[in-house]
Amino acid sequence: MGCSFTVAIDGPAAAGKGTVSRAVAAHFGFAYLDTGLLYRAVGAKVIGGMGPCEAARTLAREDLEAEGLRSSAVAQEASKVAVIGAVRDALTAFQRDFATQEGGAVLDGRDIGTVICPNADAKLFVTASAEVRAKRRHAEMQHSDSSESLAQVLADVRARDARDMQRAEAPLRPAQDALLIDTSNLSIDEAVSAAIGAVNAKRTKT
Ligand code: CDP
Repeated sequence: MGCSFTVAIDGPAAAGKGTVSRAVAAHFGFAYLDTGLLYRAVGAKVIGGMGPCEAARTLAREDLEAEGLRSSAVAQEASKVAVIGAVRDALTAFQRDFATQEGGAVLDGRDIGTVICPNADAKLFVTASAEVRAKRRHAEMQHSDSSESLAQVLADVRARDARDMQRAEAPLRPAQDALLIDTSNLSIDEAVSAAIGAVNAKRTKT
C-alpha cells in the first residue's frame, strides 16, 4: 500500500464534527468526505418520490450538490433511509474507496470508526449535550430562511439521535478505540486543537 492515512470522525448531529473534520483535513492536507451528505442526498431523492434503495444505488456525485440538502426535512428523511441495511450497503464501497486514497482522508459520519473503516489510523468521537447541539444548530439556521424555534430544533435533534442510536444497522456509538471529544464547553479552536493533537499522536506512531 502507498501512503494512505484514514481519520474516522463520528458523533451525533451538530456536535461540531464537520468543523473539526474540515480543520483536521486542511491541517494535514487530507481529502475530506462528509458522509452525512450521502444519506441526505438519498433522503432528498426519496422526498422527490424515488424508492430509497434505488436512490442509494443510483447516487451520483452531482446529487451531493443538490439544493436544500441542509434542511431539517431532508435531515429527518436521511435518518429514516439510514436505518435501511440495503441503503447503507449501497453507499459502503464509495466511502471505503475514498478512505484509502493516497495522501490521506478524513471521513465524518455515524459509523466510520465502527463499520466503514474499522482499521482507521485515528478515530475520534465528537459529541456535546443535546441542548448545546440544538442551540448551535438553531444559531446556524439564523443564516437561512428557516424559522424553527429552539424547542423544535431540540426535538428534531433528539428524534434523530434516538433513531441513529437505536437502529439495528450500524447504530451511532463510539468505536472502542475512539478518542472522545466533548465539545459542550469547548470553543471551536479548542476542539480543533484537541483533534489535531490526537491525530498527530497516531501519525508519529505509524
Ligand atoms: O450534519 P448533521 O450531523 O446534522 O447530520 P449529517 O451528518 O448530515 O447526517 C444526517 C443523517 O444521516 C444522520 O442523522 C444519520 O441518520 C445519517 N448518517 C448515517 O447514518 N451514517 C453516516 N455515516 C452519516 C449520516
